[in-house]
Amino acid sequence: MTETRRLDPPQGRFAATVGLPGDKSLSHRALIFSAMAEGQSRISGLGTGADIVSSAKVLGGLGVEFAVDGDAVTVTSGGVTDWTEPAGPLDCGNSGTTMRLMTGALAAQPFAVTLVGDESLSKRPMRRLAAPLGALGAELETTPDGTAPVTMRPVSGLRGATAVLDTGSAQLRSAFELAAIQATGASAISSPPGYRDHTERWLETVGLGERRDDTFVIHPGSVPSASYDLPGDASSAAFLWAAAAISPGSEVTTPNITLNAGRIGFLEVLDRMGAEVDASVDRAILGDPVGTVRVRGNSLRGVAISGALAVASLDELPLLAVVASFADGLTSVRDAAELRAKESDRIASTCDMVRRLGGGAEAADDGFEIVGLGWLDGGVVESCGDHRIAMAAGVAATGARGAVTIDGADAAAVSWPDFYETLEAVWSSR
Ligand code: S3P
Repeated sequence: MTETRRLDPPQGRFAATVGLPGDKSLSHRALIFSAMAEGQSRISGLGTGADIVSSAKVLGGLGVEFAVDGDAVTVTSGGVTDWTEPAGPLDCGNSGTTMRLMTGALAAQPFAVTLVGDESLSKRPMRRLAAPLGALGAELETTPDGTAPVTMRPVSGLRGATAVLDTGSAQLRSAFELAAIQATGASAISSPPGYRDHTERWLETVGLGERRDDTFVIHPGSVPSASYDLPGDASSAAFLWAAAAISPGSEVTTPNITLNAGRIGFLEVLDRMGAEVDASVDRAILGDPVGTVRVRGNSLRGVAISGALAVASLDELPLLAVVASFADGLTSVRDAAELRAKESDRIASTCDMVRRLGGGAEAADDGFEIVGLGWLDGGVVESCGDHRIAMAAGVAATGARGAVTIDGADAAAVSWPDFYETLEAVWSSR
């Protein structure tokens, strides 16, 4: 069942301080690292979205145990070499991160494991994992179209290898790295920049990796059990930053947020557009910076985004299309062809969303152009089953002239089940 939700634009300025649910990228990694470690790990601040439940269920299917302990989760595992053969295919739901990172974590197992996903995940490209993992000696099988179901074939060991990727994909890099720590010799990986380097920072902190210029070297070894205190999600916070950015005089403050450079490209974009942006680092989790962000709305101008900045703001580009509609002048996004391989074809779904709301959008092979008129009318948007399209449309209601109705609004639950309630609470805060 899909839900339709109507959002009526708020009246007046708002000022809110908001705590965000746990970071999705870090939550997947904390679960997988804990499951690969021997012993007991503890994770507080775990994300609340359906994608995180998918990772936990997949790991549970391999014999890893989870117990809720107050507001933390305790993970008990005999280590990756103690994982047990699952009774059947493991379901990754809508979560590309679960499926891709798990191919790496599973790459050295002596039994076969098949990973399946929902309709959207079953259309996303998985064959791109075969070459880097194959170089290590892993065997990955996809459908003839290169999609899920993905089967990791049994192997008797992995060897060190070098991978050179042509996209700055954190998921691909992480899959390779999680396999490479299980190999017999050192490995190395390089790719274009802009990717979120959470996995690299965590491996570096526990002595399983090191940076050498543009290459990351992975040393074989065991992930230690640990205690993770996860920060709030920058990619979720981005929706509230955007709501403030398009509302002159309004502001949103988000404490305890992931500030990894590969996650906050969108803040740089908002700054270039003319929003007032402050970010300060307070602490680190396994070498990954965490801090407070405040965004205050202003009149905005169009920008041109490409290269590493497009990679570092990739998940926020549908949201940028909304912000750009409220700016003055043209915004162009290039070098973002990866958008076509996300939960929907985000070049098509983003342009469709903007047009349905009365804005101007033109798709390109590797991005899009938005004509910033300074307003959106409102209208009826189709989420295309994509959480980030649903939530970007919700943000559009912040400044639209009329109501925004989202068909398939429940898609937001993949990363942020309480999104609409939080957005409306922000609108009414003073
Ligand atoms: C993610 C990496 C990104 C991002 C995704 C989460 C991760 O994908 O779009 O939402 O946690 O590693 P890429 O593989 O394109 O970097």
